[in-house]
Amino acid sequence: MVKKSLSILVLAMLTALCLAGEKAVPAEGGATIPAGEKFVALTFDDGPRRGTTERLLDGLKERGAKATFFLIGQQIEDNAALVARMAEEGHQIGNHTWSHQRLDSVLPDEAAQEIARTEAALEALLGGGEYWLRPPYGQVPEGAEFRVPMVKWCVDPRDWESRDVEKVTQGILDCVGPNSIILLHDIYPTSVDAALRVVDRLQAEGYWFVTVEELLWLNGVKPEAGRMYRTGRG
Ligand code: NI
Repeated sequence: MVKKSLSILVLAMLTALCLAGEKAVPAEGGATIPAGEKFVALTFDDGPRRGTTERLLDGLKERGAKATFFLIGQQIEDNAALVARMAEEGHQIGNHTWSHQRLDSVLPDEAAQEIARTEAALEALLGGGEYWLRPPYGQVPEGAEFRVPMVKWCVDPRDWESRDVEKVTQGILDCVGPNSIILLHDIYPTSVDAALRVVDRLQAEGYWFVTVEELLWLNGVKPEAGRMYRTGRG
């Protein structure tokens, strides 16, 4: 499903590019970025949560914005319809461990289980696929190997701390730029409000909201298993 939406986005971008007659610029890795376009990725951790995630999906849909959701495994079964909806609406879905364990503070077997159980829950619901990992707190044990790409962030408004729509919105707008990966948590109503305000504001400035996978692709970056990505530039 991710692959399908990715190819649709790319097709749309290429069509827009041809219509505009603008020059494409070469990117690292050989792909091309449409000239003058700005892309950004919103990422949401710690969900899904009934109510807040639902309202976020409604708002993103209204605005034609895509996002990436890193889900807590033990919350998937009770929110299966919401997770299926994320996939149907073209969002990228990833793994945030089964019970939000800091992977560098548990035994290797437990860390592997935290990831595998969540993967199994996602596969049971959505089918096989590659579910990228966002390790809780952005931390992984040194030297550990991972089978999927990992995603950090470069813009963190600490939404969990202030829970203040104005502060979170401004915290993002102060730091965001093309190819930013933004960290938010869709379990707080204030973060949902801030995210939708940011979408409105940045879309007016010409930004496109894409998934992390799309953001990397648009920059010509080929995602590698076990590597941690902080921005769309790789
Ligand atoms: Ni988290």
